[in-house]
Amino acid sequence: MKVSFSPFSLPKSGALGILVAEGGKLSADAEAVDKALGGALANALKVAGFKGERDKTLDLIVPGGGAVERIIAVGTGKADELDEVRAEYAGGSLAGAAQAAGLTAITVCASLAGKPKLAGAELAARIASGMRLRVYSFEKYKTKKAPNGKQLTSVKVLAEGAAAARKTFAGLEAVAAGVHLARDLVNEPSNHLHPGSFANEINKLSKLGVKVELLDEKAMKKLGMGSLLGVAQGSAHKPYLAVMTWEGGKKGDQPVAFVGKGVTFDTGGISIKPAGGMEDMKGDMGGAACVTGLMAALAGRKAKVNAIGVVGLVENMPGHNAQRPGDVVTSMSGQTIAVLNTDAEGRLVLADALWYTQDRFKPKFMVNLATLTGAILIALGKEHAGLFSNDDKLSDQLSKAGQATLEKVWRMPLTPEYDKMIDSDIADMKNIGGRHAGSITAGQFLQRFVNNVPWAHLDVAGTAMDSTKNAINQSWGSGWGVRLLDKLVRDHYES
Ligand code: BES
Ligand code: MN
Ligand code: ZN
Repeated sequence: MKVSFSPFSLPKSGALGILVAEGGKLSADAEAVDKALGGALANALKVAGFKGERDKTLDLIVPGGGAVERIIAVGTGKADELDEVRAEYAGGSLAGAAQAAGLTAITVCASLAGKPKLAGAELAARIASGMRLRVYSFEKYKTKKAPNGKQLTSVKVLAEGAAAARKTFAGLEAVAAGVHLARDLVNEPSNHLHPGSFANEINKLSKLGVKVELLDEKAMKKLGMGSLLGVAQGSAHKPYLAVMTWEGGKKGDQPVAFVGKGVTFDTGGISIKPAGGMEDMKGDMGGAACVTGLMAALAGRKAKVNAIGVVGLVENMPGHNAQRPGDVVTSMSGQTIAVLNTDAEGRLVLADALWYTQDRFKPKFMVNLATLTGAILIALGKEHAGLFSNDDKLSDQLSKAGQATLEKVWRMPLTPEYDKMIDSDIADMKNIGGRHAGSITAGQFLQRFVNNVPWAHLDVAGTAMDSTKNAINQSWGSGWGVRLLDKLVRDHYES
């Protein structure tokens, strides 16, 4: 999708998008359009009863032509509540309506009446960003074009401060590209995306200036990553630990670190899952996809931060060499784990990935993302990701970034009592804690591998895939978390 910005001038043809704030008032620019149409726009909105409610759209045909042929109005809700994310949602809704109308190009009048919270270049860039996020579809395996498969390819945004809008949008476009990369990775079927091909995709980030290292089975054996390797051993696909480094901050500045669960398919292993819905487990690398998308976003917008991304890439399969329930493995930390259920594999992968990350990089903090437990869907549904943390400050920063991006998180408890639930008779710990508090005992397990570094775990089983569709995402793989963590970095960790 190509986006350009220019100052307002009366459009002569084609389709026009306009923003209407709650109360139905038109901006000065939209009023100029209305005037050129002899008052037909204001009249049509009135007849339709369109009041500018948040994310409502109205598709109007302009009979007789004249200045424009078609006008799509999008409601923004109250102008003084229209912040960055609400502007993005308005842009997303507008793009959705434009595509539903079969448009491939649109001009958008990005101004609002009254005293909007966001105006000028900032408003214009956010509207464009929302459109960019929304215009996504995963169609590489369709040999025939879908009937309603028109996509917006060209957007012209009319706003004051076009140069500033262009500059702001460039950064937001890099983030959108990261979100789309994460969506692509999650949507990709597991016969195409296995640990090796995932690693190949990560290698491509070097074009953006990200340093990529791949640790193969041999290297991980040498480091003693028995926990991760135990999961991988049932699969014909060899595992990788991918390490991405972006050095945009001051030399020698402690990095921030992001760690992802990258189980490219989770059959459950010998503790095999039931058949119904198992196909969704192609998305069990949603945490790793987010970390990869985030690193692409940070590098793409040249973020002034030193950031590390580490993802554990494995496939969890049954087979003659698969690990058995009851097996005891030794993790890189030296702690031993009784694997009572081979389907609780994500924590086994992260145990070594987290330990390795803190041991090698001594980061300011680690945030890990994982489609870790079905239980988080029982607790929180698809509206919030579960947040587990040993650090109140990091927790608060994540909660606020969640509010700001509408990628919301909800903090869950970690306590010594829950921790005891994973003590084992035979090893230092077991990998399941019983029926109760399944997401929390998983969090307690991870905490045993962070070595007291400030850390947060996001359980994204409900948000990374098949989550609630919204104005800026209609895809099964949502790309959830890229915008959240970009915001965290932007607000608190850039020099
Ligand atoms: N990948 C799953 C969790 C999951 C479930 C993600 C549904 C997305 C949607 C994870 O590896 C798993 O199997 N967890 C088990 C843990 C149990 C064996 C303690 C679960 O949630 O049932
Ligand atoms: Mn599993
Ligand atoms: Zn899993």
